[in-house]
Amino acid sequence: MLQQNSLIKAADLLSKSSFTVAFTGAGISVESGIPPFRGPGGIWNQYDPKVLDLNYFHLHPQESWIVIKEIFYDFFQNIEPNPAHKTLALWESQNSVNVVITQNIDHLHQKAGSQNVIDFHGNAHRLVCLSCHWKTEDFQSLLKNLPPLCPKCGEILKPDFVFFGENIPQLAYQNAFEAAQKAEVFIIIGTSGEVSPANQIPVIAKQNGAVIIEINNDKSLYTNNLTDIYLSGKASEILLALQHIINENNKNHYHA
Ligand code: APR
Ligand code: ZN
Repeated sequence: MLQQNSLIKAADLLSKSSFTVAFTGAGISVESGIPPFRGPGGIWNQYDPKVLDLNYFHLHPQESWIVIKEIFYDFFQNIEPNPAHKTLALWESQNSVNVVITQNIDHLHQKAGSQNVIDFHGNAHRLVCLSCHWKTEDFQSLLKNLPPLCPKCGEILKPDFVFFGENIPQLAYQNAFEAAQKAEVFIIIGTSGEVSPANQIPVIAKQNGAVIIEINNDKSLYTNNLTDIYLSGKASEILLALQHIINENNKNHYHA
């Protein structure tokens, strides 16, 4: 299918769907200036992902925190949602997206105005104590000395996002798989599909009858097996192109 035909088909499916789920990965935030994890310019080409391994973090909290601070608290400062996040928020306000499931921890969907967001991998905006489970969102001063320590009990604080070797927050897990089961249209945006169990969410959607639309500027593990309609390009370009087609269709409809 030519890309224009695919875009028209996808826009049509989105307009008719009564339950649409968007599933996003690092690629949707690339245009906000956040590098992806894998592929060209990927964070894991430059840093060793072992610092996000829970066992390693326990054994080497200071070394891990120096890297974690650089990646997730220095790079990620002053980032803003891009048109891809904003289009999903607009569609939610128009009832054409029901749930956003994100693997990202950057909070950009919420900042763009999406309300029904499942943070499958937690969030960087909170730190949590590994011992007494105290949580805080006001932690800038605690990051002056690494590793940051819990003011209540003195134990090490960890970002409240999911490390390798750690369980997915139970509610997020349950809500994500429930939404996937209900989806009529399931849009995958900017994820390589390499990280489990998140990468099983689209599989469950497909098994339960969802049409899978995928937006990625490169191929992912889904493209040749799970995806029904593949839209090749940057997340914001493709979402704006879809929005344009939906607008035109609505105009024609109202003026007919
Ligand atoms: N628009 C659309 N897709 C893009 C863009 C863009 N502008 N830029 C990159 N991509 C695509 C890449 O082609 C790739 O398929 O986004 C995907 C990013 O893949 P990863 O870096 O592997 O990110 P993600 O799938 O979100 O990683 C999953 O891995 O390290 C963990 O916990 C971390 O949540 C993360 C998980
Ligand atoms: Zn504590």
